[in-house]
Amino acid sequence: MRCVVTGGAGFLGSHLCERVMDRGDDVVCVDNLITGSMENLGHLLGRPGFSFLSQDVSTPVDVPGPVDSVFHLASLASPRAYLRYPIETLTAGSLGTRNCLELAKAKRARFLLASTSEVYGNPQVHPQTENYWGHVNPIGFRSVYDEAKRFSESITMAYHRTFGLDVRIARIFNTYGPRLRPGDGRVVSSLLAQALEGQPLTVYGDGTQTRSFCYVDDEVRALLALERSSVTGPVNIGNPAEITLLDLADQVLAVTGSSSPIVFKPLPQDDPVRRRPDITLARTLLQWEPTVDLAGGLYRTRDWLARELGHSSRSSRTPAARGPAGSWRTAEGATWTSH
Ligand SMILES: NC(=O)c1ccc[n+]([C@@H]2O[C@H](COP(=O)([O-])OP(=O)(O)OC[C@H]3O[C@@H](n4cnc5c(N)ncnc54)[C@H](O)[C@@H]3O)[C@@H](O)[C@H]2O)c1
Repeated sequence: MRCVVTGGAGFLGSHLCERVMDRGDDVVCVDNLITGSMENLGHLLGRPGFSFLSQDVSTPVDVPGPVDSVFHLASLASPRAYLRYPIETLTAGSLGTRNCLELAKAKRARFLLASTSEVYGNPQVHPQTENYWGHVNPIGFRSVYDEAKRFSESITMAYHRTFGLDVRIARIFNTYGPRLRPGDGRVVSSLLAQALEGQPLTVYGDGTQTRSFCYVDDEVRALLALERSSVTGPVNIGNPAEITLLDLADQVLAVTGSSSPIVFKPLPQDDPVRRRPDITLARTLLQWEPTVDLAGGLYRTRDWLARELGHSSRSSRTPAARGPAGSWRTAEGATWTSH
């Protein structure tokens, strides 16, 4: 099989490229690197069967040769990124999704859309089931992302109904893990980076709003199961363990051994108050279940982030996060030496 992964140089996409290669398929990664990075693909470049196409999916996507599946992940994804690039976000979600659907249609390939829990907006139904239509402010700051993804779902279903395109829609809930950049504003990597660097941890609002965090390996396993299934979706993919942001900050302090204080800042506009997926569909139709708990995932992410910060900055680290003689504890209890 030969698969196209758009957005493959990003956090989730790079893990997906890796797993698709591991199952024996060739991968063409298409990315314009607006938030992604070639560093995320370093271990794949040069591996037989992997190729990279530098392209904005908002222009027609031409991939020579056969294609069996298109995984469409290209999109600005973090609030910081989509607030900085609102037009690009809307264009990637609309024109970009259409171009990728056209590619799948031309190649008679399967198409998987990486949609999001943000289609539910600030939900009035809890936990969120796939048949809930959502509660989105169509003109708010976040709407450039939420509405772009809602449009993406709509046009994906239109291609399915009009052309018989074989499609899958995954509604992805908050996912975290290695390669989630600390600077892009997503809460797990932001808090971990602040704790590792001995800075105050920023919590927006009073910290009682909830989220549900899925470790990247679990998320990617579900995306692959969905792609291989005969389920059109949409299907919620996320970890249903719900936690307040204040509790998350406490867990981050625990896994880093940091004594940083928590500081509170005003809640951004339209920030969802509660977020938890109902994953009954994924459980029953895909036989999928997340297996990595938050503490385990935080340890693994912390180890990666500590190495990243060590390479990119000389800033001081939290002494309590260290093991003896400048080494750092890993999730497995092993140590590696910082420099
Ligand atoms: N990580 C999460 O928690 C989460 C949650 C819900 C949905 N998603 C979805 O999963 C996908 C991947 O998200 P991520 O967390 O890996 O974000 P990311 O920013 O790390 O990756 C997105 C990738 O898309 C690329 N990209 C953006 N616009 C593009 C364009 N016009 N043309 C080509 N490439 C483009 C970026 O350069 C980047 O490599 C996105 O579609 C996002 O909406 C992610």
